[in-house]
Order: sequence, then structure tokens, then C-alpha cells
Amino acid sequence: MLELESGPARDIRIAGDADELVRETAQLFADVVRAAAQARGCCRIALAGGATPRGLYRHLASEAELRLRLPWEQLQVFWGDERQVAPDHADSNYRMARDALLAQVPLPAANIHRIPAELPDADRAARRYEAAIRQAFALGTGALPRFDLILLGLGADGHTASLFPGTAALAETQRLAVANRVNQLDAWRITLTLPVINCARTVVFLVSGADKAAALARVLEGTDEAATLPAARVRPRGGRVIWMVDAAAASALA
Ligand code: 6PG
Repeated sequence: MLELESGPARDIRIAGDADELVRETAQLFADVVRAAAQARGCCRIALAGGATPRGLYRHLASEAELRLRLPWEQLQVFWGDERQVAPDHADSNYRMARDALLAQVPLPAANIHRIPAELPDADRAARRYEAAIRQAFALGTGALPRFDLILLGLGADGHTASLFPGTAALAETQRLAVANRVNQLDAWRITLTLPVINCARTVVFLVSGADKAAALARVLEGTDEAATLPAARVRPRGGRVIWMVDAAAASALA
């Protein structure tokens, strides 16, 4: 693992290949979760969707040393975003995490807070999810949830969670979660908003593959224009961002 950058607010770590990326990210995940549980008796995380995290989730479920180390009963699991599909749909981020990890570990069902994206009205789903977050964090009006860990992916267009370039959710400053119309996909998504992501203690981006190289270089090294890319706007105040990437994804970095 090459530490390309290591600072109080941002780390960039490069793994030789996808397998090493999974192993190293799993260790980081376990370290963050254990530290939070020891410090506060509880660890609240938001999982990423898409395809990349599947290998990480499977590794967390299959590595006995990790399974035994993680305080599952103290872990509260949320999602960074969801597609507007039922929980058993092939495109569901919930289903992917359930099948790869959550169904394989002793995590109490009450600790799983999935986004009710099966609702025909995406805004209602987002408001239900927001209410569940407020309840789980015992938030007062106007307060933001401080996730211990938010795991994010990176799209080739610089999107993260379901914050896509040019979409309305990027401008949201009050809500915790919103329905976001993604014209690029001709679909509704439900997503955490930037204020929530930027309130996290730790954000970990997991980026793998040559198809992400251009986006990663723009986000990490970009010009002012690139600073407007959704993933480039993830800058947790009083938190840290750790970029866990493999060599293929890092191939366009200077
Ligand atoms: C989703 C994710 C999304 C994902 C990126 C990368 O719901 O798809 O939240 O932000 O992380 O699109 O996706 P891949 O890992 O499939 O490349």
C-alpha cells in the first residue's frame, strides 16, 4: 500500500491491485468501527452502493479474524444512497449489502436502517429515511447526524452517492436525505446530502479500476472546474477523507 498523501484532512492510499485494496480497506473499516464503538459505545455507518464495495463486504463477512473483531451488535448500518427499487431488486444497494455481508454476520435486524425506496413517491421515501436517521441519532431540529464512517464510491463522471453532476440534490443545505432526479439515468434516486456527508468523522472513498482513473485525477488534482464535481465537494469539517484506490484507478494521477 503506497501512502501517496497523508494529512489531517485527507489521505490517499494506493493498493497494488483490487485484492490488496479490499484487504486494506477491510482493515481500515474494522479499525474505524472498533475505535468508534470503544469511544462511544456505538458506531453508525453509511454503506456505499454500486458494484465496487461488493468485494469489500464479502471479505468482511468471510474473514474470520475480521468477523470476530467487529462489534456487530454496536454497529448501526445506513446507506449513502439507494435506487428507487424494491429491496429484493437486482439493482438494490440494500440487497447487495445484505447478500454480501449483512445476512452473514450477527448484526441485529433492528440495527439495519435501509432506505424505503420501494415507495412509489421518492420524496416520501427520503423523508421516511430522514426521520429514521433523526430518530437513530436522537437529533434535535436542525441538527446534523455525525456518522462515524461514510463509505462512498466514485462514478466516472465524478458523482458520489447519488449526487450526480448538475442535479438538484447538490444544492441542498437543510435536508439530511432527498429524492434526486437523475436525468442522466432517467431515474429517481434517494441520497444523503452534502451537509450530512461533510459532517462525518471519517469518509472513505473506495475506487477501483482504470475506468475511474480520469475522474479520480480530476477530483484529486483538478482545476477550479473540477472542484465543482460532486466527489470533490466532499470535505468533512472536522473530519477526514481517506481515498482507498488501486493502481489502475490511480494510473492518471500525476
Ligand atoms: C450507486 C452508488 C454510486 C456508486 C458509483 C460507483 O448507487 O451506484 O452509490 O455512487 O458508488 O456509481 O459505482 P461502481 O462501484 O459500480 O463503479
